[in-house]
Amino acid sequence: MPDDSGDSGLSGASIPGEVLVEARKVSRIFRLGAEEIRAVDDVSCQAREGRLITVRGRSGSGKTTLLNQLGALDKPDEGEVYFRGRSVNGLSEGERTNLRRHNFGFIFQSFALLPVLSAFENIELTMRIAGRSTAERVDRTHEVLDMVGLGERADHRPFELSGGEQQRVSIARSIANRPSVLIADEPTGELDSITGLEIMSLFRRIVDTDGLTVIMSTHDPALSQFADESWLMDDGRLEQVEGELDIDIPELRQRIEFVEN
Ligand SMILES: Nc1ncnc2c1ncn2[C@@H]1O[C@H](COP(=O)(O)OP(=O)(O)O)[C@@H](O)[C@H]1O
Ligand SMILES: [Mg+2]
Repeated sequence: MPDDSGDSGLSGASIPGEVLVEARKVSRIFRLGAEEIRAVDDVSCQAREGRLITVRGRSGSGKTTLLNQLGALDKPDEGEVYFRGRSVNGLSEGERTNLRRHNFGFIFQSFALLPVLSAFENIELTMRIAGRSTAERVDRTHEVLDMVGLGERADHRPFELSGGEQQRVSIARSIANRPSVLIADEPTGELDSITGLEIMSLFRRIVDTDGLTVIMSTHDPALSQFADESWLMDDGRLEQVEGELDIDIPELRQRIEFVEN
């Protein structure tokens, strides 16, 4: 497990702490008749490489709308979104699809697995769509199922799995194509609190071992104890950023061990 943050930067492959996704003065405005809702209101934020970020806030505060902007699923009405320093606003639909397919993984509250396919097939299909070879698909699917602790459940269909296991399959699917950013919208929303903590510690492990960036929304403040950073949304505004540049990895590891044992 790579746990040495000091040995860095010399390979040139990636810059530790590089800003992957950035929003600059982003607003998203919905109009309902005469009413104007600023679902995201003048938000600026940066998601750096290798961080686990939670986006907190009550229902309706704009978490989903913000994640949709950061994941290039939706376009801002004002401001700009950047991926690795390149503006996303100007991309065509096809370019945005490509950007999402190769750089982002998405996880939803409802798991969004295809019910007629096994766990294995659900994951493999995503890799097929991304144009991976058969050999690579098979190897990688087994690998990601092992990573989420479901190596023995490859042939099970979603209805044969618990909610927590289904969410693990969708996490495995989201990392199969080796994205740099995972966007997870209330991934623990349908799970009981213990299962939610297990999913959270799985995210922590993925971030620590694979250097991915996870941006996940939650209305459960308890989950933010696992995060490197926590953003607080209120009425479309990004009100507070906690924990930025204030990471205590050994302490986080202890918390994970506590939950996993
Ligand atoms: N497609 C839409 N059309 C109109 N209003 C929307 C739409 N999506 C979200 N909203 C409104 O924007 C605000 C923020 O919603 P949302 O981002 O879903 O919040 P959260 O995810 O924090 O619950 C809410 O007032 C919601 O009703
Ligand atoms: Mg939401």
